[in-house]
Amino acid sequence: MGKLSDYNLDRLIGDFGCRVLVETGTGRGEALAFAAKSGFSQIFSIESDHKKALAAALAHVRDHRITVINAKITRGLAEALAEMDPAQPALFWLNAPALRKDAPPGRLGLEADLRFLAGARDLSRDIFLLNDVRLYMDGPFEAGPADPDSLPPAALRSLDFFDEILEASHTLTVLPQSTGLLSAFPKS
Ligand SMILES: C[S@@+](CC[C@H](N)C(=O)[O-])C[C@H]1O[C@@H](n2cnc3c(N)ncnc32)[C@H](O)[C@@H]1O
Repeated sequence: MGKLSDYNLDRLIGDFGCRVLVETGTGRGEALAFAAKSGFSQIFSIESDHKKALAAALAHVRDHRITVINAKITRGLAEALAEMDPAQPALFWLNAPALRKDAPPGRLGLEADLRFLAGARDLSRDIFLLNDVRLYMDGPFEAGPADPDSLPPAALRSLDFFDEILEASHTLTVLPQSTGLLSAFPKS
C-alpha cells in the first residue's frame, strides 16, 4: 500500500459515509483519476504548480464533483472547507512533500495542515491517509529508507502530532508496506 488506488474507495465511502475527498498535492493526477471512478459526491484536489493544476482541471472539466484548487495547501484547504458541508465526513489524502515552502517556521507543513483542520471542523468522522511515512520516522519500511535530502530537519521529524490531535477519536496504524503508510480511521 502506498497509493490511493490501493484502497477500495467505494468500500470506505460505504463503511464510513465519507462522500467527500480532499487531496493535498494533485501531482500528475493519478489519485484524482482513480477517485473520479468512485462514488464521492465532492472531490477537492489542491496543487500549487499551475501547469499540473491546469492539466488536472482540464482532464476532469466535465466532472462537476471535482474542484482542482491551484493554491498552496494552507490556502487551498480553507477554500475546500468553505465549499464542504461540515456535517459530511471526508477522506483526506495527504500527499504533498514533507519539505514544503509554505510550512510555517519551525513546524512541518503537514502538522500545520492537521492543526488547521482540527481548528476548522470536527474531524472525528473523517479519514486520514498518508503515504511516505518513512520521511517522518525510521522504518523498517518495505521500500527502504528515504533519501536523506528529502527528510525534514531532525527536530521536526515526527508524526506525534497525529496522535496528539486524533488519538481520542481515531485508530492510528502505521504499516511498513511500500514507503510506509499511516491511516487514521474513526473509532466509532
Ligand atoms: C506526490 S505528488 C502528488 C501525487 C498525487 N497525490 C497522487 O497520489 O497521484 C505531490 C504534489 O504536491 C505538490 N505540492 C508541493 N508542495 C505543495 C504545496 N505547498 N501546496 C500545494 N501543492 C504542493 C507538488 O507540486 C506535487 O505535484
